[in-house]
Amino acid sequence: MKKIAVLMGGTSNEREVSIASGENVAKALASLGKYDVIPIVLDKENLSGLPKDTDAVYIALHGGWGENGGVQNALNALRIPYTGPGVLASQIAMDKIKTKLVLEMNNVPTAAWGLSSRGDEAPPLPFPVVVKAPRDGSSVGISKVTCAKDWPSALENTFSVMEENAPAALVEEFIHGREFTVAVVDGEAWPAIEIVTASGWYGYEEKYVSNETRYEFLADGGKEALKLEEKLKKIAVDAYKAVKCRGVTRVDFMVSPLGRCYVLELNTSPGFTSHSLVPKSGMRTGLSFAEVCDKILSLAATDQS
Ligand SMILES: Nc1ncnc2c1ncn2[C@@H]1O[C@H](COP(=O)(O)OP(=O)(O)O)[C@@H](O)[C@H]1O
Ligand SMILES: [Mg+2]
Repeated sequence: MKKIAVLMGGTSNEREVSIASGENVAKALASLGKYDVIPIVLDKENLSGLPKDTDAVYIALHGGWGENGGVQNALNALRIPYTGPGVLASQIAMDKIKTKLVLEMNNVPTAAWGLSSRGDEAPPLPFPVVVKAPRDGSSVGISKVTCAKDWPSALENTFSVMEENAPAALVEEFIHGREFTVAVVDGEAWPAIEIVTASGWYGYEEKYVSNETRYEFLADGGKEALKLEEKLKKIAVDAYKAVKCRGVTRVDFMVSPLGRCYVLELNTSPGFTSHSLVPKSGMRTGLSFAEVCDKILSLAATDQS
């Protein structure tokens, strides 16, 4: 039997979510009866706990070293295939500024944007804007700013979650509209999911605390919805290709009332808890949760392979 290590935990602020993802994936892969599954909870940024004869690694780490190219680089060096994108795509997707540059270079639509330094008196775009840290997830340090009075504290709040001496915060045009996510696996888009929040903002509360956030399949919405679904899928695949992803990646969108689609970000190690969106979308295609994990595992590779 192939020996599959499932990596989870890690040192980022998404450690607990990662453990939930990893335990789920390990259980699902074991249930298939064809793998020797080894769950590994990492406490450090190294692979000293990984068995030497591991055949492939399922990365269920979120954020930090597990998602920014670090663990991918270590696995390349060991020549052990791993799930999800390689080093370059991980580095690009982890940095929202780099992501926007690469998307724009490839004509993939994203919201208008600029950069602000600490203490800048006004944003680089007209209000309303969203100010965020380029390299943090989970909606930490993000806010919508509608008027000049609120700008200084919002900008300072973003800088307070960033590394010391970080050069710039990302400022984006606020896109009023609906929010969607599309999983792309092996270059193919799975059904789009709409994220419906009570507040119209998918912040930390809405992601991890509120019970009111709903997730709905777009294709359940009729003919217009199907047209939008096709558009989102195409742009999601374009974004995946532009960033040079492989395996699995989740592409997040805002869509204006006129139907303009804007890519917000790419998540190269998306959640795999029982209510996460990639497995939900995969299950809509007819796969079971375990089969979704197996499909993603079958795409494991190194940057050399
Ligand atoms: N330009 C924007 N316009 C409107 N809403 C936004 C914009 N940017 C972010 N948001 C809202 O904030 C949430 C988190 O932003 P995102 O850029 O995806 O960062 P994170 O990495 O924290 O998920 C989004 O899911 C969306 O609800
Ligand atoms: Mg996001």
